Amino acid sequence: MKANPGGQIDLNAVLGRDRLIQNIWEIVQQQSMVITAERRIGKTTVMKKMAAEPQRGWLPVYQDLESCHSAAEFSMAVYKQVHHFLSGKSKLARRSKEFLGSLGGIELGGTIKLPEKAATPWKEVLTKAIEDLMHENDEGTKLLFLWDELPFMLMNIRDGEGEQTAMQVLDHLRWLRQTHSGLRMVITGSVGLHHVLTSLKEKSYANSPVNDMATVDVPPLAPNDAVSLALLLIDGESLPSSDKPAAAAAIAREADCFAFYIHHIVRGLKIMEWDASPENVAKVVASHLIDANDPWELLHYRERIATYYQNHQKEVSLILDELAAQNEQASVAELLAMLKGASQFDDRDRLLRLLNLMERDHYLKRDESGAYRFRFPLIRRWWKLNRGL
Ligand SMILES: Nc1ncnc2c1ncn2[C@@H]1O[C@H](COP(=O)(O)OP(=O)(O)OP(=O)(O)O)[C@@H](O)[C@H]1O
Ligand SMILES: [Mg+2]
Repeated sequence: MKANPGGQIDLNAVLGRDRLIQNIWEIVQQQSMVITAERRIGKTTVMKKMAAEPQRGWLPVYQDLESCHSAAEFSMAVYKQVHHFLSGKSKLARRSKEFLGSLGGIELGGTIKLPEKAATPWKEVLTKAIEDLMHENDEGTKLLFLWDELPFMLMNIRDGEGEQTAMQVLDHLRWLRQTHSGLRMVITGSVGLHHVLTSLKEKSYANSPVNDMATVDVPPLAPNDAVSLALLLIDGESLPSSDKPAAAAAIAREADCFAFYIHHIVRGLKIMEWDASPENVAKVVASHLIDANDPWELLHYRERIATYYQNHQKEVSLILDELAAQNEQASVAELLAMLKGASQFDDRDRLLRLLNLMERDHYLKRDESGAYRFRFPLIRRWWKLNRGL
């Protein structure tokens, strides 16, 4: 297997996700779900594998919604996908043409065109697309939309068309879920849905448009799968090694079992023409973590703070600094005392809310005693280096 950090990987190069995928299939039997996880952890890979290898009784439809900037674009993207999916069915083609005609649109060589200026009735288009698919579907087959980057699309809609439209999209999706018992949605993306919902709530939209959905977190790979991936990549890249198991164990450990970083480390060894050994692995990681080009795409851990923690950027940075450089873990009382000493901040409830958000954003985790620490040791190490602590 060749190192391919961030690229589209072959389905048979996907390691260690069988149990998670099985869990997801079991959950979607009952309800739709939101997959939350840190960036680059492998969400898209999981969804694509599900789409390519559906369980019996399911019709999965994978869509990357990153390029949708309006509710109309979203509805048309879904409509086109459904249309493409069912293009062999003549009955549907006729019905679909009639519907397009009623909107003043046409289909040209497989491409659907709507009149430029006319406003697309997006709710109708979305409803129609899903009804068509449900209608043509074999009885008993459930329909599963795997919608990647939906939170990002909602941010685009919010910024371009306003909070109200973004909220209407979410409300309409919920209505569709409630109307069609054989319809499920799996939503994920590199931006946390909770951030989008919070920004909508700030504009007093009090609905809970996803509280009928389950939430599942995608963790890094299990340690043995991370080691297996490292071994396959060492072999695939024909890296010389006098002790492959030791090198693979070092790769998995230094990468915190993130597949993406494992691919990066092996590629780094290959580029440097170094043997796979624990010492060389450590050298590659050390150089990547301080590389100004940020090959591991870690800068977002710092940059997104300005967007998501607008009024509390300083406190978030102080907390992370404290846990990166001073104490590996700290209680709420200790963190509050630290903030009081370093700033004007003195609000325990607000601190608790902030810590909860930092947990949801995968910066921190809390142990049973209530102490907080970095969720990923690697990110702690990077933060320390990046902040010059
Ligand atoms: N199960 C896996 N086995 C092997 N490699 C993997 C696996 N999951 C992810 N990868 C590697 O990590 C990279 C990133 O994975 P993926 O694009 O699925 O992450 P993501 O969570 O969707 O990222 P983003 O948050 O940017 O959308 C892949 O290109 C691949 O190199
Ligand atoms: Mg992705």
